[in-house]
Amino acid sequence: MQLTGNTVFITGGTSGIGRGLAEAFYRLGNKVIVAGWRKALLDVIAAENPGIDGVELDITDHEDIARVAARLTQSHPSLNVLINNAGIMPFDDPSGAVDDAVSRRIIDTNLLGPIRLTSALLGHLKKQPRATIIHNTSVLAYVPIATNAVYSATKAALHSYALSRRFMLRDTRVAVQEIAPPWVDTDLIRKSGDPRAMPLDVFIERTMAGLATDAREVFVDEIKALRDNPGSGEHALVDAFNLDLVANPIPV
Ligand SMILES: NC(=O)c1ccc[n+]([C@@H]2O[C@H](COP(=O)([O-])OP(=O)(O)OC[C@H]3O[C@@H](n4cnc5c(N)ncnc54)[C@H](OP(=O)(O)O)[C@@H]3O)[C@@H](O)[C@H]2O)c1
Repeated sequence: MQLTGNTVFITGGTSGIGRGLAEAFYRLGNKVIVAGWRKALLDVIAAENPGIDGVELDITDHEDIARVAARLTQSHPSLNVLINNAGIMPFDDPSGAVDDAVSRRIIDTNLLGPIRLTSALLGHLKKQPRATIIHNTSVLAYVPIATNAVYSATKAALHSYALSRRFMLRDTRVAVQEIAPPWVDTDLIRKSGDPRAMPLDVFIERTMAGLATDAREVFVDEIKALRDNPGSGEHALVDAFNLDLVANPIPV
């Protein structure tokens, strides 16, 4: 995608990867609007980055999405980049009873949220001279982490959905890019400084470089072996990945 001259709307833009991307696009001179559901954090990012607008949005709320999308296309008619970034990653152990409320919240946030928000903005995006939809999935879209089974499933589903959306939009001016982050040191679980997690600034710099190439999928070389999940031979890879995390758990 072209990294300049855009009006960018990014969900979950008050922290972590979302905030990092928002500020990177802002520094390049783009108009940036961040969505979050905590007003205090929206106020902080707007104060620290004059010109960034904040919009309250609960991505799990269908009506809120429709209301925000309608207001946004009025207030920012040049909106041409949507970054579906908001996500949550509670632990859900599939060896026991599944908490239905937690599962629904993960699915509503990570999968239905981006589907609904994009759906609400797509008509507007199609009218722009150029537009880009970005889905933030995960390395766990390709190899699930067994302790976060529903989370991993939503990311695999979002990856699948992005493939279909890209194909169906192939004859429009709307491009679809996917960001599949590795483990990045954010508060998604707990910012811990674990050396296995990529520092946020490194990840943002490499991701912006990847987005600029028009790559359909933007991921760092460190996850290539996992991204290249060997299809029907995946079981040994998935088991080895999870056994390593059993031996060396993520700090919580
Ligand atoms: N960090 C990683 O290792 C990693 C790896 C792969 C993929 N990802 C993906 O990257 C994305 C960003 O995660 P992150 O690592 O930057 O973690 P983060 O700092 O926790 O960011 C998640 C953002 O989503 C927002 N959010 C959560 N529920 C929401 C809701 N119902 N409505 C609106 N906003 C909501 C959060 O707002 P509040 O803080 O106010 O709740 C927060 O701003 C997620 O989709 C995640 O799955 C992260």
